[in-house]
Amino acid sequence: MDKIIEFSKHVQFTLGDSVLEIIYLLASALFILGLKKLSHPDTAKRGNTLAALGMIIAIIGTLFLHRYHGHKIGNLGYIFTAIALGTAFGWVVARRVKMTKMPELVSFFNGMGGAAAALISLMEFPYISKELIAKYGMLNWQALVIFLGLVIGSVSFAGSMIAYGKLDGFIKDIRTKILRVINIIILLIIITFIAFLMTRGQIDPVILKPYVYLLLAISLLYGVLFVMPIGGADMPVVISLLNSFTGVAAAMGGFLYNNLVMLTGGILVGSAGTILTILMCKAMNRSLFNVIIGAFGGGGAAIETEQGSIKEISITDAAVLLSYSHKVMVVPGYGLAVAQAQHLAHELDKLLEDKDVEVKYAIHPVAGRMPGHMNVLLAEADVPYEKLLESDEANSEMQNVDVVVVIGANDVVNPAAEEDPTSPIYGMPIVKTLKAKNVIVMKRGMGKGYAAIENNLFYHEKTRMLFGNAKDSLQKIISEVKNI
Ligand code: TAP
Repeated sequence: MDKIIEFSKHVQFTLGDSVLEIIYLLASALFILGLKKLSHPDTAKRGNTLAALGMIIAIIGTLFLHRYHGHKIGNLGYIFTAIALGTAFGWVVARRVKMTKMPELVSFFNGMGGAAAALISLMEFPYISKELIAKYGMLNWQALVIFLGLVIGSVSFAGSMIAYGKLDGFIKDIRTKILRVINIIILLIIITFIAFLMTRGQIDPVILKPYVYLLLAISLLYGVLFVMPIGGADMPVVISLLNSFTGVAAAMGGFLYNNLVMLTGGILVGSAGTILTILMCKAMNRSLFNVIIGAFGGGGAAIETEQGSIKEISITDAAVLLSYSHKVMVVPGYGLAVAQAQHLAHELDKLLEDKDVEVKYAIHPVAGRMPGHMNVLLAEADVPYEKLLESDEANSEMQNVDVVVVIGANDVVNPAAEEDPTSPIYGMPIVKTLKAKNVIVMKRGMGKGYAAIENNLFYHEKTRMLFGNAKDSLQKIISEVKNI
């Protein structure tokens, strides 16, 4: 495989290089196919397997055939040990994680990707080519790629860890205007620092060491402070933004090692993350700049609104109301995931359909705690995809709905987003439950949602509260509906 084939005077390659190119092409095709299949619940599992297969062949090909500055990869024993340990850890954690803790896991894994990209830069900066520095009289593209990988990777790592803490609830938002000003200043410092390093003339990589560690420290600080003030309903946008950062940081590694599959993988993650960020911003009716710089979502003082009294509904009355309806719309939220009540929701839906009640589900794009959370939950319970409506579509059908059943949702049905300009979630599109004739809200008590604000829907005259764990409430309603 190492025999050199001369294509022309300028282009020489070994058979190994050609095989590797083909492997990379195949791996890239598998990534793209995998991503395509991930866009539908029916094919998502297969998509994941295909992309993982692409990654496996890319790793094996790289380890055995990739050459960097003419050298093959060494230390294979260490590398395989690290892969085995990482695989075992990832496997156990992923198998044990509860569905409701999935977003935290995604944030954690994303942070690990960022850390890996930053580590590449830390490992590689001592090898910045002195010949090229001498030739150009300044640091070259190789150094720029290393600095960018370091900054973006460490921001993604530190930011993802803070996002993990916030989703888990052990880190609270710090929302002061001064923090936002500090963040802008730190960002400007980072950009100026890189420009300063790049124009230092014939600097020796050894002399660079303290500067590089200083850049690392500033970037980590920026990652922490960048996510700290963002809270409440804005977290989905930040998570997908951090995801795209990790992709871009990985792509820097691809440039550095002249490794096409790393570049393709990084670009795919980076662009998918960016598209998701844009979609999330649209779903929240916000600009990205506004999310990063502005104040949105809870964590701060909840806005107290004028509240009336709450009306409860009994299990029997709820069962009767549902059984004699023509059209029912279920609005699932984070509480459905916590209660793991998706199978019972589907069972109730089938029972009602047997009684000629049309049942559909209104899926808000940020319901739950991760993009597509409700789609995943309901797919797990085999709810047919055709029954799921995006919120716009659901809203346009809402005036014909007899009963809306809100199961563990709160922020995504909060009318304050439309009615109260002082509300931290003002402007976020919601599922307009109040356009329906009746609303039943299932939740355990008067607990607030992720944005930590009051919800006047619960006090509205159309609304009846059904308190209890969603799983218990659904189980009891199912028993009653069976007897009607
Ligand atoms: P939330 O507003 O978080 O409300 C969930 C409600 O479920 C709570 O008010 C809680 O009230 C109830 N609940 C919890 N456990 C329950 C159980 N076992 N049985 C019944 N009810 C239960 O949920 P949502 O409406 O889905 O909104 C999602 C929020 O998370 C948005 O603010 C969104 O921006 C944010 N977020 C979303 C994402 C993504 S990408 N989806 C990521 C991060 C953050 P009780 O305590 O009274 O039961």
